[in-house]
Amino acid sequence: MAKWVAVAREADFEDQPVKMVIYDGERIALFRLEDGIYAIDDECSHATASLAEGRVDDHIVECPRHGARFDIRTGKHLSFPAVTPVKSYPVKVENGNVYIYVED
Ligand code: FES
Repeated sequence: MAKWVAVAREADFEDQPVKMVIYDGERIALFRLEDGIYAIDDECSHATASLAEGRVDDHIVECPRHGARFDIRTGKHLSFPAVTPVKSYPVKVENGNVYIYVED
């Protein structure tokens, strides 16, 4: 069943624009962009690098291992060597809590 789960506090992003959380055994990267907070799978679709450790430019994150680029807003892969997207999660912020929408 799909549900909203709280994974962070909005205040967590005051000092850092990126946060990695683990939900149900999955690493999820949260990015605070100018227009809101976005969540995608932390594990690069090419291998196992952490996208939360990648360089962020506007709404794009570059994998720290081989340089594949992903759209933080959608999870879409934008460059080789990634050939598949990473999962993207809807995000909402309520009462200072950051929720992602997950399916069991
Ligand atoms: S692990 Fe991310 S591009 Fe290779």
